Amino acid sequence: MFDTMTITKAGGALCGALLVFLLGNLAAESLYHVGTAGHGDEEHAAGYVIEVEASGGEAKEEVVVDVAAILAAGDVASGAKVFSKCKACHKLEKGANATGPYLYGVVGRAVDAAEGYGYSGALEQAADVWTPENLYAFLEDPRGYAPGNKMSFSGLKKPEDRADLIAYLDSLDN
Ligand code: HEC
Repeated sequence: MFDTMTITKAGGALCGALLVFLLGNLAAESLYHVGTAGHGDEEHAAGYVIEVEASGGEAKEEVVVDVAAILAAGDVASGAKVFSKCKACHKLEKGANATGPYLYGVVGRAVDAAEGYGYSGALEQAADVWTPENLYAFLEDPRGYAPGNKMSFSGLKKPEDRADLIAYLDSLDN
């Protein structure tokens, strides 16, 4: 009995020591791995990329919302001033084609629909109707919007200028 007890105790102590040793080893190893991951910054880098993608998606949604808001805020009086950049080629009176087609009633008008004007045909590849949204996109970058069209104009970079101009053009035909 006594001997068995001694052997059991000794065995237990040995097992305990082994367990402590193994656990210690495990802890040291995991500490070491956390340390190297931190130094390599691989995990941190991956987390960062995901964040950027997420915020990029949000930014796109915001732009869509902004178009409607910006258009709604368009100012007719300042739009008349912005139109001076178009005057060299466009007239506002119905039927008065110049270098470009007349722009009377162009907001809501079918693309390439000014009577008697010889279009290139490139604009109708890009859009069907000149909705405020289509005009807004076209006027920012005319050549990028409809490649091959013959309107030699670099574009209106400011969103407010485009919104004001669209409000002005829309006001002309009631
Ligand atoms: C250098 C001359 C020139 C200037 C400046 C110019 N345009 Fe044009 N525009 C054209 C020509 C040419 C076309 C016809 C393009 C084609 O058929 O490929 C055109 C086409 C258009 C159309 C399409 C009309 C339709 O009937 O489908 C719109 C809208 C338009 N222009 C608006 C503007 C506005 C607004 C401005 C000023 C911010 C402007 N343009 C400045 C020459 C010009």
